[in-house]
Amino acid sequence: MLDTTALNQQRNFFEGHADIWLFGYGSLIWKADFAYLERRPAFITGWARRFWQGSHDHRGTPDAPGRVATLIRAQGAVCHGMAYRITSDVLAPLDVREKNGYLREKVPLTFLNENGGTAGQSEGLIYLASEDNPAFLGEAPLADMARQINQAHGPSGPNREYLLNLASALRELGVDDAHIFALEQQLDRLPGYQ
Ligand code: BEZ
Repeated sequence: MLDTTALNQQRNFFEGHADIWLFGYGSLIWKADFAYLERRPAFITGWARRFWQGSHDHRGTPDAPGRVATLIRAQGAVCHGMAYRITSDVLAPLDVREKNGYLREKVPLTFLNENGGTAGQSEGLIYLASEDNPAFLGEAPLADMARQINQAHGPSGPNREYLLNLASALRELGVDDAHIFALEQQLDRLPGYQ
């Protein structure tokens, strides 16, 4: 398994900044187990959320990997999520947690206000698992992805829970994400993880 921890320590795009914005598009939306100064709903453009990254260490195992979210470039796409203003020391534990293929990338963020209107922009950081990382699984028929997610289980819990929590969190944010909701529908037709 490639360990990206050391690579990420070199990808400090915010040297000298007291705090930075971290944009969460996956588990960070519903599970922020780190200290943050504030959080704001936000979106990034040109990226689409997909369950195309393998999880061998959190929501699956090396023999039976799960599937978790990453982003793929898609012209005209909008990916909604949650932005957290953090001090940069928060990143070190995240680098370790997300060491299975995720690299820090700098992106422009747009914030949303309570009415869903845009409310300013900033540079932000994402963790991105690109298609050249060894844990990348890529596209598969929706039903196959749902079956894999339904069966996979790792040290962080059932893969099914990750997908269902993400779908609920997006619904709460008022976000329509066709890929995630279609996967959720497929999962609903399958028996729960035992
Ligand atoms: C996210 O929620 O943005 C995220 C979480 C873990 C790895 C990569 C991204």
